[in-house]
Amino acid sequence: MSPAIGATLNRVDGRPKVRGEARYSAEVPVPGLTHAVLVNAKVANARITAIDTSEAERAAGVLAVLTHRNLGRVATVPRMLPSLAGLAAPGQTFFPMQDETVHYGGQPVAIVVADTIERADHAGTLIRFEYETSPATTLLDQARDQAYVPERIFGGLLPGHTARGDVAKALGEADVSVTATFRFSANHHNPLEPSASTAVWEAPDRLTVYDSTQGPNAVQLTLAELLGLPPISIRVVSHAVGGSFGSKAMVWHHPALAALAARHVGRPVRLVLTREQMFTSCGHREEQEQQITLGARADGRITALRHDKLSLTSPFDDWAEPSLQSPSVAYTSPNYEGTYRLVRGNTITPTFMRAPGEATGMVALECAMDELAERVGVDPLELRLRNYSETDPESGQPWSSSGLRECYQRAAELFGWRDRDPRPRARRDGQWLIGSGMASALYPVTQPVNPQRARARLYNDGTAVVEAGVSEFGTGVYTAMTQVAADALGLPVERVRFVGGSSDLPNITAAVGSAGTSAVGSAVHLAACELRDQLIRRTVGDDHSPLRGADPARVEVRDGRMVLRDRPDVGETYADLLHRTMTPDVEVLGTWNPPPQDAGYGVHTFGAQMAEVAVDADLGVVRVRRMVGVFAPGRVLNRKTAHSQLMGGMLWGLSQALLEVTRMDPRLGRWANASLGDYLVPVNADAPDVVVDTVEVRDDVVNPIGIKGVGEIGVVGAAAAIANAVHHATGRRQYELPITLEKLL
Ligand code: MOS
Repeated sequence: MSPAIGATLNRVDGRPKVRGEARYSAEVPVPGLTHAVLVNAKVANARITAIDTSEAERAAGVLAVLTHRNLGRVATVPRMLPSLAGLAAPGQTFFPMQDETVHYGGQPVAIVVADTIERADHAGTLIRFEYETSPATTLLDQARDQAYVPERIFGGLLPGHTARGDVAKALGEADVSVTATFRFSANHHNPLEPSASTAVWEAPDRLTVYDSTQGPNAVQLTLAELLGLPPISIRVVSHAVGGSFGSKAMVWHHPALAALAARHVGRPVRLVLTREQMFTSCGHREEQEQQITLGARADGRITALRHDKLSLTSPFDDWAEPSLQSPSVAYTSPNYEGTYRLVRGNTITPTFMRAPGEATGMVALECAMDELAERVGVDPLELRLRNYSETDPESGQPWSSSGLRECYQRAAELFGWRDRDPRPRARRDGQWLIGSGMASALYPVTQPVNPQRARARLYNDGTAVVEAGVSEFGTGVYTAMTQVAADALGLPVERVRFVGGSSDLPNITAAVGSAGTSAVGSAVHLAACELRDQLIRRTVGDDHSPLRGADPARVEVRDGRMVLRDRPDVGETYADLLHRTMTPDVEVLGTWNPPPQDAGYGVHTFGAQMAEVAVDADLGVVRVRRMVGVFAPGRVLNRKTAHSQLMGGMLWGLSQALLEVTRMDPRLGRWANASLGDYLVPVNADAPDVVVDTVEVRDDVVNPIGIKGVGEIGVVGAAAAIANAVHHATGRRQYELPITLEKLL
């Protein structure tokens, strides 16, 4: 294996980012630029009965005031498919400002375009709306009696109900059973850079949009349908993206609204969402409740698992984050039943949020497992080992790779789990009650549905450019792609450049579900391998080459030089070959066809989480003292960026466990804490000692580079490990996240 893969290469986009030179979508200089500001409904269920825009229109610098009356209609709102399908991927099947109806608080009802953002903002405050309001449903508790089981969820990709065996019978025969109901508040992503779109019409049928997105191609295809233009008319560019976490995975309204506004005023338009608008414009993790029932034998072996999820969705779409997938295959249980129930409310359609689904589903399962361990008197780690599944319990097929046992073992060593006194409330450090907890981490290996492409080009100076449409939203994918290409081409990383971030480049589905690096990496790998092999075939077939007549299978590339494997002194460089043959560059397109969904294996990523907490016995304050996470994500492309992703994920889990809650004010139908002052995320002072380790498992099934993704698995189970540690410290179980201090008083 070349040293390029696995190395701790620094981020190739690191310097420009920390020096302030990187261009974000709202920073691209555009001549003649104007600024758009969205005006949002302050009611959650209403009909607009009157609008007075006259004062706003007269305000200084205003170029246009657009409402449903003069915006124009979108051509088609595409079907909602998750962006991993590689097609148009709207965040919801409702497009605002098409009629007088308001379905949710924060829905855009007007756009003001002006010469400066301040003037647009001011004019927006001058528009007068009159509404005829109706009662709104914004909380689960207001309408749980109206819950229904959808046929399918998640853009139609997953069933609303699944079962194997006979759960009711198995529960009736179980020696022990545990039923627990968990409540999760709504959460918002809050990336540092808010969503932003700059729309430039170069001609009536030529539009460029600079957009902050996880998928330039998805934005292009979605805009094409909304605007009724062929995809060739639309170019989407995403230079640098300041975080996303799922908020920019689907395509929301702002790029299309910016394009429509720009067409209206005949000038380029920039639209940047405010922090408050980020709470109502690009989805969120829905408010939800999950009930787990575990049936087991006296020794802790699970015989039945029932998992019900009840959550709030929009009036338009049957969306639920898929929380039941990993829990359904985490342990051996032969009897299983999982059901999604939805309640329609006055909300935007919820969406992916980091570790979509499993971040909540595995909390429910792993806290219930901790309770089961206590009930049967078995160490929590031992209970997991007793229920360890050698195969995918759903299909009975072998795992493509696992490594879970090694993760448990390594985590236990790093954490010192064996010394743990199982009794709750047994350890104290002054006023602090000390406890530890653990959880398993599982996340599905999501495969794109369509072929993934990348282009590799070698110049006659021996440098290479590799290109694909993926954007860099903070995962380190450009850096990892540089390594994958360097590895396949046999070049040092300094001589390879990766270019992404444009819909003009070879198509890649949006980077979601921890599948971004594997999708683009597989295409880059195949493109670079094909380019290398083509050059090797050329040199062995060239009469003037020192390698003429050699068997291509015996030629390898070292440091840009093609040589005989067993006689490395015989060979020539790529540059020599291209110069001699008067070839300026050679280019190939690589295509990766992802394996079918049923390739004969269960495909999941695994890990183990452990946490130690201290709980103030008088004040209920929880401090996480230590976290250990060990994961088996297949091959690790870059130790540094992979560990950063996993550690970041674990801190998300801490955040989910203790801090993050978006509070709905049901009287107004609006989020009450839509700011970074009131929506709490961890700061450095909250961050404990975090130990991250990986167990490398080989996986030849998932993709040609054997990677399973590191974006989400670090979150999964982290909050459960903390909640279980809080129970161990205090003797009290927590059934509602976040665990705020009043719950411990
Ligand atoms: Mo990721 S939260 O699946 O965009």
